[in-house]
Amino acid sequence: MKIPQKKVELFCGTGGVGKTTIATARALALALSGKKVLLITIDPAKRLKQILNMKDSDDGEISTISLELFAMDPVSTSGKSFDALLMSPRATLQRMAIEKNLHAEFDSDIIKTLSRPYGGMNEIMSIIEVQFQLEKNIYDTIILDTPPGKHFIDFLESSEKIKNFFDKSFLEIFEYLGKNITSGGKARNFISFIVSTGIKKLLHYLEDVTGADFVREFIDAVLALYKCRDSFLKALSFQKELKKESFSNWFLVTSVEQQKMNEAQELKHDAAHFLHRDHFLVMNKCLSTFLDNWNTEGNEVLERLKQSMTKREHELQEFAGKNFLNVLKFHEINHPSPMEHVKKLAQMFLDQTRND
Ligand SMILES: Nc1ncnc2c1ncn2[C@@H]1O[C@H](COP(=O)(O)OP(=O)(O)OP(=O)(O)O)[C@@H](O)[C@H]1O
Ligand SMILES: [Mg+2]
Repeated sequence: MKIPQKKVELFCGTGGVGKTTIATARALALALSGKKVLLITIDPAKRLKQILNMKDSDDGEISTISLELFAMDPVSTSGKSFDALLMSPRATLQRMAIEKNLHAEFDSDIIKTLSRPYGGMNEIMSIIEVQFQLEKNIYDTIILDTPPGKHFIDFLESSEKIKNFFDKSFLEIFEYLGKNITSGGKARNFISFIVSTGIKKLLHYLEDVTGADFVREFIDAVLALYKCRDSFLKALSFQKELKKESFSNWFLVTSVEQQKMNEAQELKHDAAHFLHRDHFLVMNKCLSTFLDNWNTEGNEVLERLKQSMTKREHELQEFAGKNFLNVLKFHEINHPSPMEHVKKLAQMFLDQTRND
């Protein structure tokens, strides 16, 4: 099967189906083919860390993974590598702070809380990070391993909310207030201005509950984010790019179970706005090779079990063929090491895309 080379490849799917493993295998396969690849994972479970033996200090930093780590044929791996980045919203925000000279503003507890892995800024920050890496223009392909389920798709579709946040009238208010603050005016001025707007009640309430310091910090945090609006707005244009066939490949990962296949089908439906012709169903953990080699001769019970499992597997493959234009198959690997899984799956990628 041909998988055209694109700037971005997204790996989506429900929990535990093998997104991170397959995305890493794809990075390895592309790097073996001589491509310059960056693998970004948003997975809060940090599974990539385990697979690639990365350290806590690697969070948010680009690590170069030598293909020699995979102990494969030394001729094909020699001198080759791919880059990997465990998304850290805080690291991306820090990079933005450096770029925009906002160190002091970003050193606030509110921003620190927002940029925790579960602080709600994971997705937007990862899009900003991808956008930033794309602008560096050093990678042939950036692979994005997304968090489980349709949450990521919902997020992509929520771009209107971000736009509203930065919409003109809101911006005008903050711009005006921002000038007050940056030109030496006290945050008080800022509050007194807002007092005349509809936000009055909310801020008074906040002030009562949390004290004036918190309100000031809140305002500073909003202003700091406002000053980074161009990065946020650029992330919106990236969402549009993702819909273009010339820009992205979408991989919907599923394991070979009816429920997971149904979930992949639902995901395809939910992501319909984004999907173009180049989307691939990745059927992971297929049992066909195991079943073909399973010698059940002389054991009637096992023979029957094998037959029913084989029938089931065929039905699921038929279901995939009917519902998806492009289907890639990856076998269940009987080995405890995740590194072994990645190596073998990378080989399966190369075997299935040999004609590229
Ligand atoms: N083809 C395979 N054969 C055997 N084991 C596999 C295969 N693919 C993945 N695994 C294993 O399945 C487990 C789940 O994989 P992985 O963490 O990649 O899933 P995920 O979809 O990224 O999960 P999450 O939704 O938590 O992010 C891991 O232990 C991984 O090594
Ligand atoms: Mg994962």
